[in-house]
Amino acid sequence: MSKQIPVVIDTDTGVDDALALIIALKSPELLIHAVTTVAGNVEVEKCTRNVLAVLDRIGYAMPVVVAQGAGKPLRRELVTARDVHGRDGLGDRSLSRRVSKRRHAAHAVEVLLEACERYGRELAIIALGPLTNVALAWKRNPRALRNVRSIVTMGGAFRVAGNTGPVAEFNYYVDPEAARIVLRSGLPVVVVPLDVTEQVVLFRSELTGRASSVDRALLDFVSDATAHYMEYHSRSEGFDGCYLHDPIAVAAVIDPSMVTTREVLVDVETQGTLTRGMTLAYPREQRSGRKTHPHVAHRIDRERFLSLFHERLWR
Ligand code: BDR
Ligand code: CA
Repeated sequence: MSKQIPVVIDTDTGVDDALALIIALKSPELLIHAVTTVAGNVEVEKCTRNVLAVLDRIGYAMPVVVAQGAGKPLRRELVTARDVHGRDGLGDRSLSRRVSKRRHAAHAVEVLLEACERYGRELAIIALGPLTNVALAWKRNPRALRNVRSIVTMGGAFRVAGNTGPVAEFNYYVDPEAARIVLRSGLPVVVVPLDVTEQVVLFRSELTGRASSVDRALLDFVSDATAHYMEYHSRSEGFDGCYLHDPIAVAAVIDPSMVTTREVLVDVETQGTLTRGMTLAYPREQRSGRKTHPHVAHRIDRERFLSLFHERLWR
């Protein structure tokens, strides 16, 4: 097997983040060095507990650093998504009530920067929540982040409607200033927006249909965690299942050919009241020659992704 990719996952651990984490932990292509948390779907302390609960459930051959990060966006009050992910972020089934491990004492930003120094060009940062921690790390030490392999961020909505108001995607709505800093930074950023994540649905029947053939304890965990999230989708989207936003960002690191991307200048609206967090692409502004623009995913191989998702989840 080719060399493992060292990874830091930065997450506001709600339900799809938890699924993304499980997929990442079970993928031999990745070496999960650290999981850092950021306020988003729920308060950051809950996100951290949810990471520890997933680690308890999955186990991992190597020690994983779990570090807590920003408790609120750079300049705004926190907006959460309890209606989507439950008050505890994992569907309110007490899945993270008891956890056996502890988080690391250091702040997420320190852990991120240490990983950049340690792994340099090999490191992939997978950001599954608001970009607050990544923006803080960039402000503190731009040189360290400039050297990484990639920063894959789930966020944005370009040609599709937003999921937080009419035009914004949740992660960038919560901390638009952080998203703007990261997307305009010239860092090697890959954006995985709703345009691709909403092309894939995990139907409830696909979970229940596996009852006899998979690890029962994991199936119970996944069914419990996704129940509330799927009810939300049933009300808001009209199907009995859920989107897999964050697992797609992980898949884009495991196998970059899973998504088709285009390098394009991107900006994020920070001034608007109705348009807060909206992502705008400037397709005619081609590369200036001085700065790298984000690579924005616009297509996904849905079948290949779903087959990877199930294979990793249940292996
Ligand atoms: C994003 O927002 C969060 O609720 C999900 O975890 C995902 O990261 C989708 O807009
Ligand atoms: Ca998330």
